Amino acid sequence: MQLLYSRVYLFFISSCLVVTCEKFTPVVLWHGMGDACCFPFSLGAVQKHLNDSLPGVHMLSIKIGNTVVDDVENSYFMHPNKQVQLACEMIKSDPLLRKGYNAIGFSQGSQFLRALAQRCPVPRMKSFVSVGGQHQGVYGIPNCLSVDHRTCDYIRRMLNHAAYFSWMQHALVQATYWHDPLNEELYKEGSTFLADINNEKSINQSYIDNLMALKNFVMIKFETDTMVQPIESEWFGFYEPGQAKKIQTLQESELYKQDRLGLKQMDQEGKLHFLSLPGNHQQFEWSWFDKNIIDKYFK
Ligand SMILES: *[C@@H]1O[C@H](CO)[C@@H](O)[C@H](O)[C@H]1NC(C)=O
Ligand SMILES: *[C@@H]1O[C@H](CO)[C@@H](O)[C@H](O)[C@H]1NC(C)=O
Repeated sequence: MQLLYSRVYLFFISSCLVVTCEKFTPVVLWHGMGDACCFPFSLGAVQKHLNDSLPGVHMLSIKIGNTVVDDVENSYFMHPNKQVQLACEMIKSDPLLRKGYNAIGFSQGSQFLRALAQRCPVPRMKSFVSVGGQHQGVYGIPNCLSVDHRTCDYIRRMLNHAAYFSWMQHALVQATYWHDPLNEELYKEGSTFLADINNEKSINQSYIDNLMALKNFVMIKFETDTMVQPIESEWFGFYEPGQAKKIQTLQESELYKQDRLGLKQMDQEGKLHFLSLPGNHQQFEWSWFDKNIIDKYFK
């Protein structure tokens, strides 16, 4: 009898190792602009690594559209509100995510995942890691720092002119998180995505409650990022209103001081974690990631 019990016990242990062991909280991933769910050189590699660090962990890498090609195109052309809604349906219909999940967003995928946490509270997102996300938007185009400054200014002026036109908001994803510090009012009125999830238009209490339900909100900033302007947006900071030089940290912003989104309270509760790395956009070592993210928040 004794032997039989231990065999049954062993059987359960080993089935846990090979089938769907619930040892680790599942992980949802969302890729960045111009990328897709599953390329072997990007999120495919991330999944492979997570599977090594958290053996058998269930993962869902968000794919918007039927194919990876659609997924890439949609990262430019499908409105984030629609994308977040589709992602919400995906996580709701995945039985292995029923008890909640952790999430990692890459670049713009970070602000989309935050919108998901705020708009789609069931199942519950637990810890959220933003890898070079733009939580206060961008006022610059990718790699603009490396090109001639006059070209840079010209493109900025053009987006400045057209970013908040309704057709542009519905034509180009990046216009929905374009943040013009010279005209904050126009941004608040015109941004059909970021200004909404940041409670800049009005205060949506469920956004606050749902965001505050996170256990951890980890923001990774790349100190020499040439894709994101200003870099401080990766830590939820931005330019001081009215100009585009002086940086304001999250803690110095009105959003924080008035606590329009619950971030001040989260900060006081020790739920916000600000990490920085010396490299360019998305440059990190897996050994660093394991030590500072996986071991701390995913185990
Ligand atoms: C995770 O690792 C296991 C064991 O090596 C392997 O069978 C499985 O296919 C891997 N899954 C993913 C998504 O890489
Ligand atoms: C708050 O956001 C939720 C989710 O997007 C939405 O369903 C609800 O209508 C919003 N509430 C208000 C008062 O705008």
